[in-house]
Amino acid sequence: MGARRTEKMEEVKTAIEKDGGQAVHRKTDVTVREEVIDLVKFAETTFGPVDIFVHNVGVFYYSLMKNLHLDEWDKLVDVNCKGFLNGIAAILDSMVKRKRGHILIISSDSGKKSDPGCSVYTGSKFFVEGVVRGLRREVSTHNVRVTSIQPGEVDTEIFTYSKTDPEAEELYGSFPPNFKILEPIDVAKAVVYAVSQPDHVAVNELLIQPKDAPIIY
Ligand SMILES: NC(=O)c1ccc[n+]([C@@H]2O[C@H](COP(=O)([O-])OP(=O)(O)OC[C@H]3O[C@@H](n4cnc5c(N)ncnc54)[C@H](OP(=O)(O)O)[C@@H]3O)[C@@H](O)[C@H]2O)c1
Repeated sequence: MGARRTEKMEEVKTAIEKDGGQAVHRKTDVTVREEVIDLVKFAETTFGPVDIFVHNVGVFYYSLMKNLHLDEWDKLVDVNCKGFLNGIAAILDSMVKRKRGHILIISSDSGKKSDPGCSVYTGSKFFVEGVVRGLRREVSTHNVRVTSIQPGEVDTEIFTYSKTDPEAEELYGSFPPNFKILEPIDVAKAVVYAVSQPDHVAVNELLIQPKDAPIIY
């Protein structure tokens, strides 16, 4: 695991070990390319070559473009676009050379549709989806699979900081919505499904939304 808060990763490690698994973590900021490369090296020296790489990190802000929350735009590009590329840069060479690997990106249903108040976030996820489509075609011949998982709203910490513009909420409603949204385990199960398929199967995309969310393209 890599993230910035060591204490949170320690909690996850403890839970995994309680279930009989093994886990290690390293403080990593995805916007710093060297730190992502170090994370992969650390995993390799601890457990051996990395066969499954899940790129989960992403930030979200709910604000109107006309209100010019420029620092949020920067973060969305730095973390969701450049951070994602840093992950690919850290893992791809080893997988291609070994002709073995599976990259999973936690993208979003915002990579398929656009909602007001989420425009720059949507742009960052369209970026991810665009890169993934080309990447998948390039590396499938090297026996590397690329899965994009596209959740709708999930009940996570993302909503503790993302509502930065009351005008967006007034105009377009609250985020998260009032109906029952996904739990993190629903997304985790999708990862397990994608990585547990036989060799001839590629789960390329998985769109998972709350049942009561309208599917709008
Ligand atoms: N929640 C939703 O409704 C929803 C819907 C669709 C898609 N998604 C996507 O799901 C993914 C996960 O989102 P989430 O809802 O779980 O968000 P979250 O609760 O805010 O968690 C984000 C995770 O990323 C880590 N992180 C944030 N910035 C980082 C950085 N610069 N470097 C390294 N790690 C960083 C955080 O740990 P630290 O803070 O310790 O670094 C945390 O573990 C994102 O790609 C998001 O776009 C979420």
